[in-house]
Amino acid sequence: MERVNSSFMTSFFVWAILVLDLVLKASGNQEGDALNALKSSLLDPNNVLQSWDATLVNPCTWSHVTCNSYNSVIRVDLGNAELSGQLVSQLGQLTDLQYLELYSNNISGKIPEELGNLTNLVSLDLYLNNLTGSIPTTLGNLAKLRFLRLNNNTLTGSIPMSLTKVYSLQVLDLSNNHLTGNIPVNGSFSFFTPISYKNNPGLIQPKNAPSPVSPTPPPASSEQRPLSHDSRPMDMFGTR
Ligand SMILES: *[C@@H]1O[C@H](CO)[C@@H](O)[C@H](O)[C@H]1NC(C)=O
Ligand SMILES: *[C@@H]1O[C@H](CO)[C@@H](O)[C@H](O)[C@H]1NC(C)=O
Ligand SMILES: *[C@@H]1O[C@H](CO)[C@@H](O)[C@H](O)[C@H]1NC(C)=O
Ligand SMILES: *[C@@H]1O[C@H](CO)[C@@H](O)[C@H](O)[C@H]1NC(C)=O
Ligand SMILES: *[C@@H]1O[C@H](CO)[C@@H](O)[C@H](O)[C@H]1NC(C)=O
Repeated sequence: MERVNSSFMTSFFVWAILVLDLVLKASGNQEGDALNALKSSLLDPNNVLQSWDATLVNPCTWSHVTCNSYNSVIRVDLGNAELSGQLVSQLGQLTDLQYLELYSNNISGKIPEELGNLTNLVSLDLYLNNLTGSIPTTLGNLAKLRFLRLNNNTLTGSIPMSLTKVYSLQVLDLSNNHLTGNIPVNGSFSFFTPISYKNNPGLIQPKNAPSPVSPTPPPASSEQRPLSHDSRPMDMFGTR
């Protein structure tokens, strides 16, 4: 009786561990699968994505990927990596992502509207690529976004009014694109100056718009919004 009981307990525990392992693999892999979809959609002549092994339990050991203590992806740092190809809608599944750094590559195609699902995003840096199409309206859902730099692409269409609701926005650079229509002047946009929009010949600064107040001369690259109402420390910002 003792023997039967203990061998039953042993097989029960082995079974329970196997089930738990499968559950963890299945949940951990969703983010790995999303990043693997990105890898498949990119051309990577320098093999910077070589360590992106889809068979691992989660992507937390991959280079250029940072996870939090719960093994969720919080950063993707792939600036200046000579990547070509396109972004993928699966990026919207990285629900804890805070930093998406893909600046200074050769990425073409559209900005996926699913990026609007990344509600923890602090920084979206897609500048210096070859992105086309319009800025997704869904980016207005990114209530924690502080850095939005889409400059030096070939983006068209108008600036979505939804972005005026992103009051966390501190740095906005939409310069050197082919945007058209009216520049928003209300909400978060009351803080930005023409430097944020320069060299978009089709953009219109609305007449009798209140001229933005700028207590200090703006820096050369992009417009800084004063930090007064947001005293949280600035995160380390990834330029390589
Ligand atoms: C940039 O991307 C385009 C289109 O995908 C490709 O034809 C070109 O070879 C790429 N250039 C570099 C330097 O990777
Ligand atoms: C993500 O965003 C897209 C389009 O913006 C939407 O259709 C989709 O349902 C969203 N997915 C999730 C999981 O919220
Ligand atoms: C892609 O963008 C780079 C600068 O970011 C530019 O030098 C290059 O000519 C562009 N390529 C195409 C195919 O538009
Ligand atoms: C961005 O584009 C502008 C206009 O084409 C160009 O003068 C500037 O050098 C570009 N920025 C960078 C960092 O290449
Ligand atoms: C800014 O104005 C537009 C209409 O011009 C409106 O749709 C939008 O909701 C306003 N944004 C804020 C934050 O009030």
